Amino acid sequence: MLDLSRSIRGLLDGAIEQARRAQAQQHWESAANAWDEAARLSLRIADSLSSAEDRELRVRSAQEFRACAKKLRDRAHGGGEAATQPDKLGIAPTSELTAAIQSLRHRSTIGWDQIAGLDETIRTIQSAYALSLARTPHGVELKPARNLLFYGPPGCGKSLLAAAASHGLDAAFYNVSVSGLVSKWFGESAKLVTELYREARRQTISVVFLDEIDALAARRDSLDSNASRQILSNLLAELDGMATKDHSSVVLTIAATNAPWDLDPAILSRFARQIHIPLPDEHARRQLLELHLEQRGYELQPSRDGVAAATDGLSGREIEQFCQGLTERMLWRENPDLSALAKLGRDALENYQVTIGPITADDVQHELSRATPKTPAELLRRYRQWRSES
Ligand SMILES: Nc1ncnc2c1ncn2[C@@H]1O[C@H](COP(=O)(O)OP(=O)(O)OP(=O)(O)O)[C@@H](O)[C@H]1O
Ligand SMILES: [Mg+2]
Repeated sequence: MLDLSRSIRGLLDGAIEQARRAQAQQHWESAANAWDEAARLSLRIADSLSSAEDRELRVRSAQEFRACAKKLRDRAHGGGEAATQPDKLGIAPTSELTAAIQSLRHRSTIGWDQIAGLDETIRTIQSAYALSLARTPHGVELKPARNLLFYGPPGCGKSLLAAAASHGLDAAFYNVSVSGLVSKWFGESAKLVTELYREARRQTISVVFLDEIDALAARRDSLDSNASRQILSNLLAELDGMATKDHSSVVLTIAATNAPWDLDPAILSRFARQIHIPLPDEHARRQLLELHLEQRGYELQPSRDGVAAATDGLSGREIEQFCQGLTERMLWRENPDLSALAKLGRDALENYQVTIGPITADDVQHELSRATPKTPAELLRRYRQWRSES
C-alpha cells in the first residue's frame, strides 16, 4: 500500500520551510498562508494515524500552525511589531521537532499532598519558586534560584517532586529524559534543547524537568565531540537564562540524577540549589503506608508505626511495591473464587463485588521477607561523601 502519510509529511515540511522563508523576507501574508497550509496537512496526517496519542500531537501542531498564521495576520495588519520582532511570533521549528517537543509536554496531576516526607525540601522548592514569581519592590534586584538539582538513590521522589512543583504552579510541564534526548535525537539534540526552551518561554510558567541529566556527561566521550559540545553549550546558555529575551514568562528547570559526581562542573555550577532526596525516614515511611494503604481504602491491622520501623532501608518505590504485595495477598485470600470466575466471562465478572478484608500481621511478615532493600550501602556512603565535598 502506498504510504500516503509519508508523502503528506514531505508536503508538510515543504509548507513549513516556505512559511519560514516568507517570514524571513517579511512577506507576512504568504507566510500566514503557508502556516495555514501546514495546519491543513497536519490534520490530514492526524486523520491517517491509528494511535490516539500520535493523532493528538498532530492536532496540537496544527493548532500551533494556525496560531502562527493568525499572529502574523494580526500583527501585519496592526503594523509595527511584526516587522521589527519576527522572532517573537513563536515560529514553529521543523514538524518533527515540534512533534517531539509537544510529546514531552504534560499537565501534571500530582499534588504536594501525594508526597510522603520531604517536608523541608518541599518548603525549599516552594519558596524558591515563590520568589521567581512574586513582584519585587521598585529598585530591588532579586536573583531567585530558577534551577534546582535533585540527587539521590532511585525511587525516592525526585520525579514526583518535579511533577508536584509543576502542578502546584499550574505550569506547563516538559518531562525530558536526557538519555533519550542524547541517543534518539543524535545530531538534532542541540537544536531540540534550544527549541524546547523557546517553546517553554511561550508559556506563562513552565517547568522543564531534565531527568537523568548525568546521561549528558556519561555520553560526552562516546558522542561525536562537536555534537556533544553543542548540546552542552546550548543547555548552559538556557540554564543561564542568557537566551531569555522576554521577561513575561518564567521557565524553571529541575534536573535529577542518581550520580551527581558524574556531572560536568559547568552544569553543576548552574544549579545554585543542589538538593539531596534521601531514602525515606521513619516519618516518611509512615506517610507512604498511609498513602498507599489507608488512603486507598485498605485497613492495616498491625500498627502502622511497627510496619514503618520494619521497612527501614526501602525506597519509596520499594514501599509502594510492598504495599501492592500486601493488598494482592489480602485480595486473593478474601476472593478465592476470582480465577474460576474469570473463566465464566465478562458478565459474571462485572457483576462480582470484590470483598475487602484487613491486611494482617501475617501478610506483613510474608511481604517483609520478600522486600529486601536494593539500594547499596556503598551508594548511600557516596552521597554523604559528595555532599561533604561539594
Ligand atoms: N516521597 C515519596 N512519596 C510518595 N511516593 C513516593 C515517594 N518516593 C517514591 N514514591 C513512589 O515511588 C515511585 C517512584 O518515585 P519517583 O519516580 O519520584 O522516584 P525517583 O527518585 O525519580 O527515582 P529514579 O531515580 O529511579 O528516577 C513513585 O511513583 C511513588 O509511587
Ligand atoms: Mg525519576
